[in-house]
Amino acid sequence: MIGRDALARDLDRARQRTLALTDFDDAELRRQYNPLMSPLVWDLAHIGQQEELWLLRDGDPRRPGMLPANIEGLYDAFVHSRASRVDLPLLSPEQSRAYCRTVRAAALDVLDGLPDRDDDAEIAFRFGLVISHENQHDETMLQALNLRAGAPILGPRTTPPPGRPGLAGTSVLVPGGPFVLGVDAQDEPLSLDNERPAHTVDVASFRIGRVPVTNGEWRQFIDDGGYTRPQWWSEPGWDHRMRTGLTAPQFWHPDGTRSRFGHVEEIPDDEPVQHVTFFEAEAYAAWAGARLPSEIEWEKACVWDPAVGARRRYPWGADQPGPLVANLGGEALRPAPVGAYPAGASAYGAEQMLGDVWEWTSSPLRPWPGFTPMIYQRYSEPFFEGNGAGDYKVLRGGSWAVAADILRPSFRNWDHPIRRQIFSGVRLAWDA
Ligand SMILES: [Fe+2]
Repeated sequence: MIGRDALARDLDRARQRTLALTDFDDAELRRQYNPLMSPLVWDLAHIGQQEELWLLRDGDPRRPGMLPANIEGLYDAFVHSRASRVDLPLLSPEQSRAYCRTVRAAALDVLDGLPDRDDDAEIAFRFGLVISHENQHDETMLQALNLRAGAPILGPRTTPPPGRPGLAGTSVLVPGGPFVLGVDAQDEPLSLDNERPAHTVDVASFRIGRVPVTNGEWRQFIDDGGYTRPQWWSEPGWDHRMRTGLTAPQFWHPDGTRSRFGHVEEIPDDEPVQHVTFFEAEAYAAWAGARLPSEIEWEKACVWDPAVGARRRYPWGADQPGPLVANLGGEALRPAPVGAYPAGASAYGAEQMLGDVWEWTSSPLRPWPGFTPMIYQRYSEPFFEGNGAGDYKVLRGGSWAVAADILRPSFRNWDHPIRRQIFSGVRLAWDA
């Protein structure tokens, strides 16, 4: 079970990330770098507002809060689109920081005042939800900062280990048979509603990329007319490619360099490609004689241990993620080269399943059988296929920008198939 000390530590780690990503002057925090993203000052106060709602007001927005209702309403993500947030009368950066501090002090008092036992699953879950939410916004703020024009204001704090040659384009076999998809609260108390419940699924044999597709491989796709020949593209994908003029991943320049957080640099061949849409991922896969994995295949390749017939907690086993097994936490500001984490391989030999790049899957977002919404009811359900919210595709595995504290192999992310400001990449699959 999750103890109070661990929750307090994870809350603080998330806050340190948030403060580091908002340690800029007022004008910077109020800027909108791109209509796809909020100004950073919106994310900052929204983090506090959600923490107050879930930890101090029992998730009930009708309960009086610290902010006047008209101000609090500015931070409702379902009411105000990202594009419109720059024009709202938002709290100032200093007001936002002070609000977050006040909420956090009260939240820590709640944690301190809990009965002296660490088995209250519901309370721990709420704290976990808030920790996850803040870290997810930290990744969103990194997406915004990556879109920022001008000289860099953010630098890496860690350097990923070197890669190993010869892995790009290779695959591993996942023999057919049943496995346990998803998790239950007893094993993963902080898992979110869409990861539950655990249930057995039979999966046909398939092969999956040992590592994600690299920039070097993507360059071959471009050179072979990947962006100019419709034969590899789905109809909506080609339509999107034509309307938007895509010719390469986002942030790639015609002279063979790329921009990353304001740094212009050579594109490393052995690094997983990132900033591609689902449509590009699908076209690349077709060109390569492959396909995208379903998210069910992806999860099996990531966590199933066929020797013992059980899930592992992480691809490599039970140990918490660390710098020898995965590139997580956001400090590298980039994916690690392929082959950088041999110790992080799954039972089937797939590497870099967690961290580096979110991997597009072929799957729409659907509830697992027996789905029950959690206290934050609108987290998953409005986005399920058929609920009118759109054409989402699931991405798996987390990116370099995801905190290790919130990532599980069962974690499901989703986005529109045209999005690519996210840290999205590709892993191929083949029928076997
Ligand atoms: Fe949010």
